[in-house]
Amino acid sequence: MKLRNGDQRPDCVPVLLFLALVLCRVFGARALNNGLARTPTMGWLHWERFVCNLNCREEPDSCISEQLFMQMAELMVSDGWKNAGYEYLCIDDCWMAPQRDSQDRLQADPQRFPGGIRRLANFVHSKGLKLGIYADVGNKTCAGFPGSFGYYDLDAQTFADWGVDLLKFDGCHCDSIEHLENGYKYMSLALNRTGRSIVYSCEWPLYLLPFHKPNYTNIRQYCNHWRNFYDISDSWQSIQHILDWTSLHQEEIVDVAGPGGWNDPDMLVIGNFGLSWDQQVTQMALWAVMAAPLLMSNDLRQISPEAKALLQNKDVIAINQDPLGKQGYRLRKEKDIEVWERPLSNLAWAVALRNLQEIGGPRSYSIAVVSLGHGVACNPGCFITQLLPVKRELGFYEWTSDLTTQVNPTGTALFQLDASKMVLKN
Ligand code: GLA
Repeated sequence: MKLRNGDQRPDCVPVLLFLALVLCRVFGARALNNGLARTPTMGWLHWERFVCNLNCREEPDSCISEQLFMQMAELMVSDGWKNAGYEYLCIDDCWMAPQRDSQDRLQADPQRFPGGIRRLANFVHSKGLKLGIYADVGNKTCAGFPGSFGYYDLDAQTFADWGVDLLKFDGCHCDSIEHLENGYKYMSLALNRTGRSIVYSCEWPLYLLPFHKPNYTNIRQYCNHWRNFYDISDSWQSIQHILDWTSLHQEEIVDVAGPGGWNDPDMLVIGNFGLSWDQQVTQMALWAVMAAPLLMSNDLRQISPEAKALLQNKDVIAINQDPLGKQGYRLRKEKDIEVWERPLSNLAWAVALRNLQEIGGPRSYSIAVVSLGHGVACNPGCFITQLLPVKRELGFYEWTSDLTTQVNPTGTALFQLDASKMVLKN
């Protein structure tokens, strides 16, 4: 969060200083940087896979309950997810009781979360993980549970008291754009005021979509990540819509992203039902190139070894988490092939070639390496490693050469280009 200290001019006349302080307080420019999400947040979020299943009597294993989160926490540690970097275990909508308690505090549903959120947070922390929770800026959550409007300070303090580490703040049931925007800002400051480090995940720009263009520079000053587009679902069509929206709006969104604030194209649905293998590869590769938060929504109790290996792929995660923190973009689209690239630290670049066709077999595609990374990715040469769908060291390329590859329909080939290895060789 880029909440900067405002400039204070000691020579200002007191009344101006007072006015400035009031304005800063209202508009948030004086709030402190929370220092979080220096790289995109990684973790697990229940929504896409478990939605709002309240029926613990008939479906005890998939209803939204403390048992679900405790099981996921255990698996995140035992099955290598935590080691791979997935740290935040996040609750989405439908955790609450239908009413606030006698002191107006939000409370977890007592049947489904008998130990309450504080105990769940303790458990999650004992595993070395962090806990995320969900609330809504308006009068109700999207699923109709109590909203935070009118209770921002109380809810922020409640979450801090419970030991919550991330808040996903949704934007349903808000009665005006003004309330929505002020609410998102206010909650950011309220979280900061608690003194607890809480990642702030917003949906602010998504809810502005029908009305006006979001001011991303402003949003970045309040949120650690922000959803821009509609909810992901477990389908190829959904992934395509998100990628199309992102490339169409890249001029507005790419440069805003960086350490502390990220565009959020929504959860990873790898390991579920709707995507073919190649489509899962595409999601993983492009979410890495887009510097997206990696929040899986799947069932870690039942996940194929292939999906697990893809989600835990160290090289691809390293691209996503690259400390330079620059988001990638679509470089070109021709003949149903898209070329995406992302600058990385140490003069490296990630390059993804997507085959958009949904007909035929693997397609061959060649690209002059000189056209990649503003002409410098491979100048005077570079070492190229293919990372997805399988890892292969392709070797040294001169700047005059072509990178040629085959890409399956709806699939993606992901590469890393290292100019620094070339320098080392010389
Ligand atoms: C909205 C959000 C989703 C999810 C649901 C919960 O649709 O965009 O990500 O949180 O609400 O109701």
